[in-house]
Amino acid sequence: MHLTRRPRRLRRTDAIRRLLRETRLSRDALVLPFFVREGKGVREAIPSLPGQWRYSPDTLPDAIAEAKEAGVGCFLLFGIPARKDEEGSGAWVPDGVVQRALGETKRRCPDAVLITDVCLCEYTSHGHCGLVVDGAVDNDKTLALLAKTSLSHAAAGADMVAPSDMMDGRVAAIRHTLDGNGFTETPIMSYAVKYASTFYGPFRGAAGSAPGFGDRKGYQMDWHNRREAALEAGLDSAEGADILIVKPAMSYLDVVSDVAAKVDLPVAAYSVSGEYAMIRAAAEKGLIDGYGAMCETAVSIFRAGADILITYFAGELAAAIRKGDIG
Ligand code: PBG
Repeated sequence: MHLTRRPRRLRRTDAIRRLLRETRLSRDALVLPFFVREGKGVREAIPSLPGQWRYSPDTLPDAIAEAKEAGVGCFLLFGIPARKDEEGSGAWVPDGVVQRALGETKRRCPDAVLITDVCLCEYTSHGHCGLVVDGAVDNDKTLALLAKTSLSHAAAGADMVAPSDMMDGRVAAIRHTLDGNGFTETPIMSYAVKYASTFYGPFRGAAGSAPGFGDRKGYQMDWHNRREAALEAGLDSAEGADILIVKPAMSYLDVVSDVAAKVDLPVAAYSVSGEYAMIRAAAEKGLIDGYGAMCETAVSIFRAGADILITYFAGELAAAIRKGDIG
């Protein structure tokens, strides 16, 4: 008689395998990013992100309606203004590209959950995430601009704001401004743990937001560090964040796991543009099975402890969940 033995899997049926799964996925946990640019009737393919498009405020609602059909309910909007300036004023003007996209989409798809990325890099002529003073980003002067941008998004209909700039103290500044203007119920999904990653490359191509000089290492995190993630997460949590983002996801599963274990807030993992582009490109070359890689990657992120997944694959993942291929 064997007193101990290894698990035997050979004769398990598919139904039993499903019963024993430790990780369950839900379409409700997916967020799909969208890029909105100025113009009318625009649906423009993004060369650095095959399978993704830039929309104008008038065409975005149709794209969102289509994604809702596929089973995705939450969307993260990035704006690309026609003109950029030193301050990034396109981020907070009432008729800005995101503000108009919010208005149009709320009118035509009132039940879509619209989250807005709050940052200046898509709007500044120098491409940095904050106000540049004497050749460097000024943390404290940037806070007021981020708060102003968040308020403008909330006023235009955003259901949630997601600051991605990595300035210190911005969650508290944004919370204070939103509360002071009657938006006490608007949650903040903070990019709390954001590394200075190479994997943002295709996004910067999509948004035209590569820094004109220097890099983002002054305000984004060094990917040699793991404990620092808990420190960053703790700060944003204390400042009043409602959801914490860890970004990127795929090479950072240790970090996702740590943050989920240490902080009592929902954790969203952002599987960024470079992760998406790698899978797409390798699949296009016939080097890997793209569908399988997409499914396995998504499950690994939830297995690590993420509650929410932000991904350009959200529509296809929703379909995979519906089909029963994952989840
Ligand atoms: C803006 C922002 C970036 C991403 C999300 N918000 C770019 C950056 O920090 O350079 C990257 C998302 C992606 O790569 O998919 N600061």
